[in-house]
Amino acid sequence: MMRVIILVALSLALLDMAWSAPPTCADALEGVFYDSKRLDANLLARNGTMLGTVILSVVERKESRCFRAVFTVEGNNLSLGKLRAGIITAGEPLPTGKNRFTKRKLATAPLRMKMDICPDRIPRGESDFSCCGLLEFFAFAVFNQGETSVRGYLAPAANTTQKCRIPDEKKPFRYVCTVESFCRILTPD
Ligand SMILES: *[C@@H]1O[C@H](CO)[C@@H](O)[C@H](O)[C@H]1NC(C)=O
Ligand SMILES: *[C@@H]1O[C@H](CO)[C@@H](O)[C@H](O)[C@H]1NC(C)=O
Ligand SMILES: *[C@@H]1O[C@H](CO)[C@@H](O)[C@H](O)[C@H]1NC(C)=O
Repeated sequence: MMRVIILVALSLALLDMAWSAPPTCADALEGVFYDSKRLDANLLARNGTMLGTVILSVVERKESRCFRAVFTVEGNNLSLGKLRAGIITAGEPLPTGKNRFTKRKLATAPLRMKMDICPDRIPRGESDFSCCGLLEFFAFAVFNQGETSVRGYLAPAANTTQKCRIPDEKKPFRYVCTVESFCRILTPD
């Protein structure tokens, strides 16, 4: 009897998880051409030392257009370890924990790697329009430095044209950058 109750409770919990899966921009951006100005940003150690760069732009892939973050090592004796990036629609409460990264990768190349964030990895709120507008970009990387590793936090490059800010006063070394996307509905010729 007990086992049955536990099983029922468990399957209800699983169903609930499936139902509450957050919507993404995949549906909203289907048949929509979108683009954005590129974001130039740096990855800095907590003390401000430059470790690398991350550049975000929109690329055309077979199945859809996607955001592409290219991570590049800049410092001496460094190589890429772990890569993290995330995009969410603006206006949602900003995630502060690990859930701000919607894409993760272990580096397989030492100096430069790309990571694509397609619309199905961009969580959104209730409105479809939220995908065509302001998007928040998070990025982070762990660099290997000899036997140790060093964390690289997102910070705007001097020449960036996008707006970046510090969402958590307690972590003044960590930025989030707002990327503006432009959408145009594709009409058949
Ligand atoms: C800053 O941090 C990096 C990475 O931990 C370290 O290699 C570098 O020596 C530090 N620089 C200063 C000025 O403390
Ligand atoms: C890089 O590593 C080499 C070999 O371990 C060392 O000789 C050199 O001083 C290091 N350079 C820097 C800038 O840390
Ligand atoms: C910003 O500077 C970087 C490094 O010099 C350069 O590659 C990039 O094209 C510049 N971006 C803009 C928007 O000027």
